[in-house]
Amino acid sequence: MWWEDAVVYQIYPRSFQDSDGDGIGDLRGIEQRLDHLAYLGVDAFWLSPIYPSPLADFGYDVSDYTAVDPVFGTLDDFDSLVAAAHERGLRVLLDLVPSHTSIEHPWFREHPDRYIWSPVDGPPNNWAAAFGGPAWSQDPGGRGWYLHTFYPEQPDLNWRSPEVVRAMQDVVRFWLARGVDGFRVDAVNGIVKDADLRDDPPASGAFPLPLMGDAAELDHVYSGNRPEVTEALAALREAAGDALLVGEVYLATSEYPRYLEHLDLVFAFELLHSPWDRQRLRKAIEPALALGRVAWVLSNHDFPRLATRVGEDHLREAAELLLSLPGTAFIYQGDEIGLVDGPGADPPFDRAGRDRHRHPMQWDATPNGGFTTGTPWLPPVDPERRNVEAQRGDPASLLEHYRDLISRRPERRGTEFLPEW
Ligand code: GLC
Repeated sequence: MWWEDAVVYQIYPRSFQDSDGDGIGDLRGIEQRLDHLAYLGVDAFWLSPIYPSPLADFGYDVSDYTAVDPVFGTLDDFDSLVAAAHERGLRVLLDLVPSHTSIEHPWFREHPDRYIWSPVDGPPNNWAAAFGGPAWSQDPGGRGWYLHTFYPEQPDLNWRSPEVVRAMQDVVRFWLARGVDGFRVDAVNGIVKDADLRDDPPASGAFPLPLMGDAAELDHVYSGNRPEVTEALAALREAAGDALLVGEVYLATSEYPRYLEHLDLVFAFELLHSPWDRQRLRKAIEPALALGRVAWVLSNHDFPRLATRVGEDHLREAAELLLSLPGTAFIYQGDEIGLVDGPGADPPFDRAGRDRHRHPMQWDATPNGGFTTGTPWLPPVDPERRNVEAQRGDPASLLEHYRDLISRRPERRGTEFLPEW
């Protein structure tokens, strides 16, 4: 399959390239910058959500699964981007958000049966939301209490409802018909919950990944990761055919086999969160390597940027590690030039504190980094220090190191090539 040893580049559309001066990145901007991806030598890119959204969770609260948010452009712009990408041999992945909609999605008003409701007048159990607080909120329309694994503005879909399954299959087919090559499947370990809504037990301390707030106090064995998830995944697979499905499964590596029955890849989150220490990295990598089908990843739009997390001195070896491991590798936009976390915004856009990891791409040394001619929604961090233009062609630069490693992947991949430090 094309993706087996592919390098995939994650684009955060709001922060990649603005084409119309409104300070927010858009699809035409992405198309204008495809040469950067071709130059880097990646095989594909994944777009974080581009659908209409009230932005409670910056696009991960979808209010229409089969449209483009006007801030990003139109379906025509999307078709043009896909065609331009394919012309350059680049494949296109979208972000599929099957676990919840926006509270403003018409389904929430018109099809309440597609969501999960408490059988009592209040929370029926102790489940905690991922960004803090209880996972149950009272419906503003007075219909009782609904479940939300993330923000209250993101009611969870009920994957035990055949209507939900069919609707999401239609979404997959809609985008495949427009030429997309696959999907990153958001928060997929949570899509099927315990049918009896049993309490999650207190945290045993064994969970290997960071969790926020109250969610860290529980082991999420009933609020998600139920065995029946394989049926939901089989339905997604049926609609997707042989398109690539990469799962965001925020669990220990040992839980991944269930997901790999129907997904092609799952992200190696223990690697993403590993301290930069040889032994710890080895411990994170080995079990994932044994599964054979993980997507190696060192950062994304939810967590501190690679340069901030591991330190600028380790960026070259981090690139070597990511791009030498056998299998598919994901690069978060900007990591190839060493972008660091920024100050975010005050007041914050994202209530969970993730603005800092989402500052715009830095293309050149001008004050807005070539990202926009307008006022950027988040300011670039340090375009005068780090930008694509300055690094391009400089053999000592991080960008050229990434490029070199990517071009040499065919002959230079395997654990024997891992950096020695
Ligand atoms: C995933 C996304 C994250 C989002 C969450 C809820 O973890 O990566 O940005 O907040 O799902 O959709």
